[in-house]
Amino acid sequence: SKEGYAHYMLKEIHESPRAVDDTISGLISDIEDVKNAIKILEESKRIIVIAAGTSYHAGLYFSLLLQREGFNVIPVIASEYYNIKTNQEDSILAISQSGETYDVMIALKEFKANGSKIISLTNVIDSAIARQSDVKLYTRAGPEIGVAATKTFTSQIAALQFLYSLIKGDDYTYLNKAKDVIRRSLDFEGEAKLIGEELSAKSNAYYLGRGLSLPFAMEGALKIKEITYLHAEAYAAGESKHGPIALVEKDFPVVFINLGELVGELQNNVQEMKARKAKTYAISVNEKLNTDKEILLTVEDERLSPFAVTPIIQLIAYYSAVKRGNDPDKPRNLAKTVTVG
Ligand code: M6R
Repeated sequence: SKEGYAHYMLKEIHESPRAVDDTISGLISDIEDVKNAIKILEESKRIIVIAAGTSYHAGLYFSLLLQREGFNVIPVIASEYYNIKTNQEDSILAISQSGETYDVMIALKEFKANGSKIISLTNVIDSAIARQSDVKLYTRAGPEIGVAATKTFTSQIAALQFLYSLIKGDDYTYLNKAKDVIRRSLDFEGEAKLIGEELSAKSNAYYLGRGLSLPFAMEGALKIKEITYLHAEAYAAGESKHGPIALVEKDFPVVFINLGELVGELQNNVQEMKARKAKTYAISVNEKLNTDKEILLTVEDERLSPFAVTPIIQLIAYYSAVKRGNDPDKPRNLAKTVTVG
């Protein structure tokens, strides 16, 4: 049941604190599997991360974290798997909420046949993808009914950050605070609703981010496309001047995602957009970008920034869809699980 919420999507966004917490404690109880996964990742020459849609954005975030540590990580959109040839020295990390996505299955079969070691992260115990894997890891978000992935994405981020912290040899207990960070962001629901309702009246929008913010800009734009049917595109903020800015005119909405790193660079990008009279928005952590409208979130530990920003991008999409009269739980043309190629 929707437990008093207007839609499953809204209910599931509000379940994120619990989902993230259960995910971390689940991984701690499966710590032997986690250690096996880490051993495989550390011993392989290349790490190939495969996933689709929202799960791909979680994978991209993980890839950036590891690339910054000098790991050879290649994020691959599952349906584009033919562009890479793997071998026994590679490890594969397959990320899928449902654990059944056809594109991921096909890629996995090919990589497995090449002798690569497979690790999976799915939200369904013994899912088809988990059964194809050498090591099965799980998010524990619970069933997700809304077609738009929300609490499962936040849980994937938590699980991947847990893995990353262990790989780095860091203490992971800061992740226990993720649920409080999400809860504090959910207090900004009214502000997110206002932004969502403004976007619902537009026909285009850009979502811009730099560094670790980019996967969240991509996720924000995907959510808007998926349930609002508004044409939203994500770009690396620095790329926007290499073409996309040509579209920007008075009141064109540009949403900046700012996880609290590379802030000076992002502020320059805001100025470029303001110079074209764009309507600028920001979802910022700890430091402002000074956009026309800005939600400023604060975290003590910037490693928790993703948990501050994620509920806001989801709520913006939710309220923009509702304002347009769309059913966010059942967007047109989409199925919860894509089992065809
Ligand atoms: O079940 P999966 O995580 O493998 O699904 C992948 C995508 O189909 C999925 O994330 C899709 O992009 C979502 N509906 C986005 O909200």
